[in-house]
Amino acid sequence: MSFMERSNILLTPNLLILLVFFCMVIKLSLCFTVIPSSLKIQGSFSFHGNEFAARDFGNRYHFLPSAVLRPKKVSDIASTVKHVLQMGPASGLTIAARGHGHSLQGQSQAPQGIVINMESLISGQEMQIHRGRFPFVDVSAGELWINILHECLKYGLAPKSWTDYLHLTVGGTLSNAGISGQAFRHGPQISNVYQLEVVTGKGEVVVCSAEKNADLFHGVLGGLGQFGIITRARIALEPAPKMVKWIRVLYSDFSTFSRDQENLISAENTFDYIEGLVIVNKTGLVNNWRSSFSPEEPEQASKFVSDGKTLFCLELTKNFDPQESDNINQEIKFLLSKLNYIPSTLFVTEVSYTKFLDRVHSAELKLRSKGLWDLPHPWLNLLVPRSKINNFAEVVFGNMLTDTNNGPVLVYPVNKSKWDNKTSVVLPEEDIFYLVAFLPHAAENDGLQNFLSLNKRILDFCEAASLGVKQYLPFYTTQVEWRRHFGARWETFVQRKLAYDPLAILAPGQRVFQRSISIL
Ligand SMILES: Cc1cc2nc3c(=O)[nH]c(=O)nc-3n(C[C@H](O)[C@H](O)[C@H](O)COP(=O)(O)OP(=O)(O)OC[C@H]3O[C@@H](n4cnc5c(N)ncnc54)[C@H](O)[C@@H]3O)c2cc1C
Ligand SMILES: *[C@@H]1O[C@H](CO)[C@@H](O)[C@H](O)[C@H]1NC(C)=O
Ligand SMILES: *[C@@H]1O[C@H](CO)[C@@H](O)[C@H](O)[C@H]1NC(C)=O
Ligand SMILES: *[C@@H]1O[C@H](CO)[C@@H](O)[C@H](O)[C@H]1NC(C)=O
Repeated sequence: MSFMERSNILLTPNLLILLVFFCMVIKLSLCFTVIPSSLKIQGSFSFHGNEFAARDFGNRYHFLPSAVLRPKKVSDIASTVKHVLQMGPASGLTIAARGHGHSLQGQSQAPQGIVINMESLISGQEMQIHRGRFPFVDVSAGELWINILHECLKYGLAPKSWTDYLHLTVGGTLSNAGISGQAFRHGPQISNVYQLEVVTGKGEVVVCSAEKNADLFHGVLGGLGQFGIITRARIALEPAPKMVKWIRVLYSDFSTFSRDQENLISAENTFDYIEGLVIVNKTGLVNNWRSSFSPEEPEQASKFVSDGKTLFCLELTKNFDPQESDNINQEIKFLLSKLNYIPSTLFVTEVSYTKFLDRVHSAELKLRSKGLWDLPHPWLNLLVPRSKINNFAEVVFGNMLTDTNNGPVLVYPVNKSKWDNKTSVVLPEEDIFYLVAFLPHAAENDGLQNFLSLNKRILDFCEAASLGVKQYLPFYTTQVEWRRHFGARWETFVQRKLAYDPLAILAPGQRVFQRSISIL
């Protein structure tokens, strides 16, 4: 628009029409080079109106694809991959599966390539629930976890391991790990999958599990979309809890807080969900950490003031059946009696299992109504070894974080024994490590730069102090950095790439391998 206004001397209407026509011809011929009419599929390709595929939750990277495929059948995906493969190395064309586009730095985008809209595949695939001793559900990889929850609940069942937010797809979270407050017990989501159906970078449709085609199965889990497009997944289920007691307590000392967290995750008899958050209140703004919670002792709680100190909020849930409500209160009382939180800061609420699991969606609706959901999200997710967490907390929470009003900062430990070391996900060396997640939205351009520079300072500190920290939802731009990220696992990762996606067609937005250049 502004270009036309400023250069109206050059662009006469006739010239403009000619220009538009010219562009259309070029675009049309481009479409045919990307996708020839000989490619038979049941779904459809679109060549315009694809701006949505150049957006993600991070809202910082925007690369338009040449085409978007809305597949109806798995064979549509396989044919498309085979077609790109047949075009050979010179075409440079890439393919990105797009789940719900909740990546942070363009990971589900394909600059000038083909984006496959995985949610379109759902219509042709019913969710199938199997009861029995080891119940499971077979789902399309484009399915949102919230829909899986609703479907499974009809049978009194539910998946065991979650993410904090359920409007994410199975394929998207399994390509990373899927970590939340249940991971200390059940492991991440990638530890709760029995079988996958995958379209490899060679266009082959392969069913894989820990027993069959195991290398592909393990490679794809946490594999950042590098080895294949997951089209279907078999997910472990358990009997669904009905209600949860949802508890928050505060600490002013990090080491007391983290010691309690570690004791809780290693205890036999413990809570069902264990997370934690950092509350920095230096600007004096009121944080909503306790909104919709009721204090156990209202009078004492009302006297509690943080005085601008950094606080640590331990967040717990215990599942229960309303019919045994008496027992549950006794049990919680017992479990809480072993903790060292500030006594007046016990806050409890009671909600349905669904309402608890879908809690971030409630926050989303509030943020949306204030126009705060579609802002850039300069998030940083780290996995910090247990032996270094106090040092990390002292420097980062103590000196670098100035407030947490723009979004939560999560911190909680998990036990590596619940993770399968054959998958592609990269973890710190130690048995226990913490997920530390900085999850702000940037209010304006200025804010974005501040958050990005904070992230850089945090990463620089981890590096300089040799903390052995690994990024979760990793983001690097050079292969040197990726090699360091993978460490001893790099060779395996490259071998798997050569085996399953030798032309480096898949998930270019992760920037691990270059399409045009040879991957070695
Ligand atoms: C509000 C919010 C809360 C979150 N909370 C958590 C959390 O608690 N725990 C956690 O672990 N993560 C969390 N995440 C991160 C989330 O797991 C990742 O961002 C995930 O990638 C998003 O899923 P998606 O379906 O939108 O994937 P996309 O962004 O669409 O895709 C992610 C990557 O996977 C690839 N991909 C997508 N589908 C497939 C497929 N079927 N086969 C192969 N590759 C595929 C894409 O090409 C891309 O590289 C959160 C994200 C948001 C926005
Ligand atoms: C982690 O899990 C392993 C295996 O179950 C167990 O032996 C170990 O004690 C656990 N560590 C902690 C700190 O809970
Ligand atoms: C934040 O700190 C101010 C004083 O600096 C205090 O008045 C306020 O209650 C604190 N907010 C919370 C949620 O603790
Ligand atoms: C995975 O763990 C097993 C058993 O603890 C160990 O023998 C093996 O070397 C590990 N593999 C990798 C790739 O780290």
